Amino acid sequence: MKILKIAVIGSGGREAAVIKKILESGRRANIYAIPGNGGIASYAECIDIAATDISGITDFCKKNSIDYVVVTPDDPLALGLVDMLTSKNILCFGPTQAAARIESSKVFSKNLMKKYNIPTAAYETFNDSTSANAYLKDYFANGHNSVVIKADGLALGKGVIICTSLEQAQSAVHQIMIEKKFASSGNQIVIEEFLEGPEVSVLSFCDGKTVVPMVSSMDHKRALDGDKGLNTGGMGAIAPNPFYTHDIACVCYNKIFLPTIAAMQQEGFPFKGCLYFGLMLTEDGPKVIEYNCRFGDPETQVVLPLLQSDLYEIMLACTNGTLNDTLVKFSAGAAACVVLASEGYPESYEKDFEISGIDKVEKDVEVFFAGVRSDNNKLYTNGGRVLGVTVAAANLNSAVAAAYKAAQSIEFKNKFCRSDIGKTALERLSAN
Ligand code: AMP
Ligand code: GLY
Repeated sequence: MKILKIAVIGSGGREAAVIKKILESGRRANIYAIPGNGGIASYAECIDIAATDISGITDFCKKNSIDYVVVTPDDPLALGLVDMLTSKNILCFGPTQAAARIESSKVFSKNLMKKYNIPTAAYETFNDSTSANAYLKDYFANGHNSVVIKADGLALGKGVIICTSLEQAQSAVHQIMIEKKFASSGNQIVIEEFLEGPEVSVLSFCDGKTVVPMVSSMDHKRALDGDKGLNTGGMGAIAPNPFYTHDIACVCYNKIFLPTIAAMQQEGFPFKGCLYFGLMLTEDGPKVIEYNCRFGDPETQVVLPLLQSDLYEIMLACTNGTLNDTLVKFSAGAAACVVLASEGYPESYEKDFEISGIDKVEKDVEVFFAGVRSDNNKLYTNGGRVLGVTVAAANLNSAVAAAYKAAQSIEFKNKFCRSDIGKTALERLSAN
């Protein structure tokens, strides 16, 4: 069998999970991580090209006859890497630049949902601060006591501001539109109603016309236990999400997933790749909080370990439009991922501390490297989120317990993790 050359763009725990899953199929493949990290280097060849260097990546893939490219992070997708690779006849997984707007422009995604009656928070869009402020004044005068202000474009996950007074809301508008806190991402804003309810992440495979949801999951976005502290890139995840019942899944499939994929096709931007539905289960039914045009992190670190089918086959089917004929099967078990971070994250933190104990973890533990560099066969911390410790087990209780046990045996100075990953989910399960 031919040895496939597969490039995976990105450098986080999510990319580590994608690479490990591709390798698990037993297929003979050489994986190139662009740029990868010092931990990923133990199972893939890391290539020192930035994930946003569209022409650099394309040249590398062309020169090295890469068979398939998985474009994982949002930036290269928004910059059109898939379009560029496709124009050079290189097969790849991910949406075109136009389809990636479902994440890179909240104005685009909100207007899409409105046009196609896909349930989401009520909203208005603005391209100047004067009219936004006037709208907010009326909004609070009409008895509302909270509102959500969102920058239109990508903002490193920080472009959403929840406000509980007119003053806060107007200050958010000022920061985004006048001070340009998120640069041109704040040229337009979305102002939307504040929703309440459990949040669920559903990643899905899409080939432009077919959508296949993966097992559901739950992120833990805040830095501290009890969902306190600042928002982070995600401190841990579990799958499946017990709030996402079979009935709710059916509603989501019919009212959100299928209509979204049909809408994108209808608009002339068929979505291929992984479409991430960020949902809130409100009293009025499930609503879309956000779309991401890519695998979520850390959700991917719990979802992919539960995938029993061949990831590369599925991704290729997404590219080729044959997803309908492809088996996508998940195990009936559960998975938990505890992120080990550098103390101080998501604000300032120290790095360059040696990581030890990886060799002590049990065989069934997956360690997905993120902010890690290697030097002389030793691993050192090199980022805020250092690594994710995942265990897949028969049930969530066992998965959480085993992930924490492994997390304890891995050591580095200033190691920090939440101690309640999976707690809400386990409470929900025991209440059933
Ligand atoms: P996003 O960057 O779009 O993922 O939003 C970040 C987080 O803000 C979400 O995960 C929610 O917790 C929260 N959020 C976003 N929109 C709303 C909303 N309309 N109502 C309540 N919370 C929201
Ligand atoms: N876990 C949220 C994200 O990937 O954006």
